[in-house]
Amino acid sequence: MSENPILEMNHVSFSFHTYGGVVKAVRDVSFQVKEGEILGIVGESGCGKSVTAQCILKLNPESAGFFEGGSIQYKGEEIITKTDREMRKIRGKEIGFIFQDPMTSLNPTMRIGKQIEEVFTGRTTMSRQERKAAILDILQKVGITDPERRLKQYPHELSGGMRQRIGIAIALIGNPGLIIADEPTTSLDVTIEAQILSLLKTLCKTLNVAVIIITHDLGVIAKVCDRVLVMYGGKVVESGLVDDIFYKKGHPYTKGLLQSIARLDMKKEDVLISIEGTPPDLFSPPKGCPFAVRCEYAMEVCYEQMPEKTDFTKDHYTFCWLQHPYAPKTEDINQLKGGF
Ligand SMILES: Nc1ncnc2c1ncn2[C@@H]1O[C@H](COP(=O)(O)OP(=O)(O)O)[C@@H](O)[C@H]1O
Ligand code: SF4
Ligand SMILES: [Mg+2]
Repeated sequence: MSENPILEMNHVSFSFHTYGGVVKAVRDVSFQVKEGEILGIVGESGCGKSVTAQCILKLNPESAGFFEGGSIQYKGEEIITKTDREMRKIRGKEIGFIFQDPMTSLNPTMRIGKQIEEVFTGRTTMSRQERKAAILDILQKVGITDPERRLKQYPHELSGGMRQRIGIAIALIGNPGLIIADEPTTSLDVTIEAQILSLLKTLCKTLNVAVIIITHDLGVIAKVCDRVLVMYGGKVVESGLVDDIFYKKGHPYTKGLLQSIARLDMKKEDVLISIEGTPPDLFSPPKGCPFAVRCEYAMEVCYEQMPEKTDFTKDHYTFCWLQHPYAPKTEDINQLKGGF
């Protein structure tokens, strides 16, 4: 992992026109991903995680969604101003992606081998023989046994875990600098999930590919990520290295997420507490802190003004009025023990 950012998102806002009005899905989001780093984006459903990822690949057509501002630089090049044609050279090649269920991204009527081969179309001078060798090599790397036979099969003939291994192979085959994986293991059972996450981590670390992994599950973050971005109401509320988030969390929402998952260090008497209420409606997001109505520490200022950024270290920051020097001292939100 190097210190150089491969991706930089700065103050990006993205909204959708809908019949009900404008949905402000992503609001002033900034973060960086370094070369070879695994960044997790976590938050409840509807918090803007997927739309943030879609912005990087410009997956939403301009007819539906629009950038309200900001900049996204991949290897120093601005993405937002790129044309569709330019984006086609980036998607699936420079930046690979993995979906929740590869059944939706794989073509059900085409053999696996043919689908993997299609990734090469128009962008390699490799001979047929060399392509075949490259495909067999990647299938072996993602742990597909009997690859010759698998290549002749159709997606429905494979298990969910196998399909996701194919998904990873397709994402990696273009030699990308970055892979975006949106809830890649949500549809798999726990044992298979653990295998797929460990495979993704090992491969990306060996090949020095950066990954953005989107999940609603902090357990996934603990297993694979170097760094975390916690999103709520279309905004980033906290970011830090994985240990920062589990042991020195600075935002009540992060604390809420941690309290709602089972951890290995839990005692028998500990209970899981889910966060009451639901994330805000992004048609008319609150003018102050988006978490205020659900926050046990909310103060008057929280409803009135968007919290300012507080930096704890060069890697760890949060947006919460509790961390402001003038805030009244409350119970330490870190009393909750984190960790796995
Ligand atoms: N194509 C779309 N058209 C209109 N609204 C959308 C569209 N995609 C997402 N949204 C809205 O944007 C917000 C963020 O969604 P999303 O990024 O999918 O959340 P998450 O991935 O965190 O569950 C939600 O309010 C969602 O309803
Ligand atoms: S800014 Fe206020 S409402 Fe928002 S999380 Fe912090 S204390 Fe709670
Ligand atoms: Mg999503």
